[in-house]
Amino acid sequence: MSLSTVDSVLARYRRHLSSGRASLGEMFGGDVEVFASGAWVRTSSGRELLNCGGYGVFITGARHPRVLAEVRAQLDRNPVATRLLLEPQAALAAEALASVTPPGLDRVHFACSGTEAVEAALKLARANGRRHVVGTVNGYHGKTLGSLSVTGRPLFQNPFRPLLPDVSHVPYGSADALAQELAGHADGTVCVLLEPVQGEAGVIVPPAGYLREVAGLCRRHGAFLVLDEVQTGLGRLGAWWGADREGVVPDVLLAGKALGGGVVPVSALVATDEAFAPFDRDPFIHTSTFSGAPLGMAAVRGAIAAIQEDDLVTRADRLGRQLRDSLGSLLRDVFGDLAVLRGVGLLIGIELAVDGLAGELLLELMAGGVIANHSLNSDRVLRLTPPAVLDEREVGFLLDAFDGAARAVLR
Ligand SMILES: Cc1ncc(COP(=O)(O)O)c(C=O)c1O
Repeated sequence: MSLSTVDSVLARYRRHLSSGRASLGEMFGGDVEVFASGAWVRTSSGRELLNCGGYGVFITGARHPRVLAEVRAQLDRNPVATRLLLEPQAALAAEALASVTPPGLDRVHFACSGTEAVEAALKLARANGRRHVVGTVNGYHGKTLGSLSVTGRPLFQNPFRPLLPDVSHVPYGSADALAQELAGHADGTVCVLLEPVQGEAGVIVPPAGYLREVAGLCRRHGAFLVLDEVQTGLGRLGAWWGADREGVVPDVLLAGKALGGGVVPVSALVATDEAFAPFDRDPFIHTSTFSGAPLGMAAVRGAIAAIQEDDLVTRADRLGRQLRDSLGSLLRDVFGDLAVLRGVGLLIGIELAVDGLAGELLLELMAGGVIANHSLNSDRVLRLTPPAVLDEREVGFLLDAFDGAARAVLR
């Protein structure tokens, strides 16, 4: 693609998509991504970038062959179903997903985006009589109106008020704060919605035992527990789910991002029989045209098979430890006390103590050939969510690029 083509992409963004987005694109070098494979993204100018961003989608890397094979076969068979007849891919995908979620979570509702899965959970909670929602400060659950009501950041909420009524937020990581909040409501009326590790808040890892305490409190107060694993699920934390790390079984678990294998956008709500009963009784109470579309279902099967066959959960754990160790000592060398690294598995956050530094580091990394992310609910945290398929050479590339970028920022 020629430079003039890049210019025309920019012009079309400006004219038809978003001029703000176009300006951001220019800030990141004005390049255009045109191809992706494994951990790498190629741009129109021929640059190869190591993708350690992608907002947590690419645990399997891009275009994993197992996912592509399932999706291609389905594309040639029946990509979007009539919805009047039963369809085998949805049944198989639901079975595959239930086989890897915590025991007792067997009932599945598919959607396309993370925020849709959250909306489904909020409605399911209401249908189960839980009308008050307790979220966490800086928690992130998406930006449609229901999800946004629980996403704990006024910057995103304020332009769109009024949001859902009956939503409160408690500090994340404090079981005492949740206990106090629940004590202020009648038992059996609350839905608690939170992440096992807060991603967009800047990778906030709660104290060990927090999720177990949360689950215990919910049980005691008859609260409906929804774990939002849209970002943390499917191996990202070096476990299949954050719930597994503490042996917790929520009423509802939400998956997205990696669920479509980086090929088709898919998300899901997975629930216990009891929690799912309102949706089970009436299949039309919560529907969407593309829910369970066969192309996405093939991607789900491919993604789960790829994670299993390549042992990506174990690899995420091992690779996460290695990267966090190496990046941690590199950060200490370069930034001293100015930087703090947090993370579990391959969800890694680097908090820089000075405003603007995280953004500069992001730009320098990009200049050095690595894609990272900012954090939507925290301006000072740079996030790395590399795929679990990185090999030693790619790890070396990431560490070298990181070293160079960190030193450039400090200069
Ligand atoms: C924990 C969590 N929940 C929900 C969402 C919303 O997902 P989507 O952007 O696909 O709507 C995100 C997105 O970052 C997320 O991290």
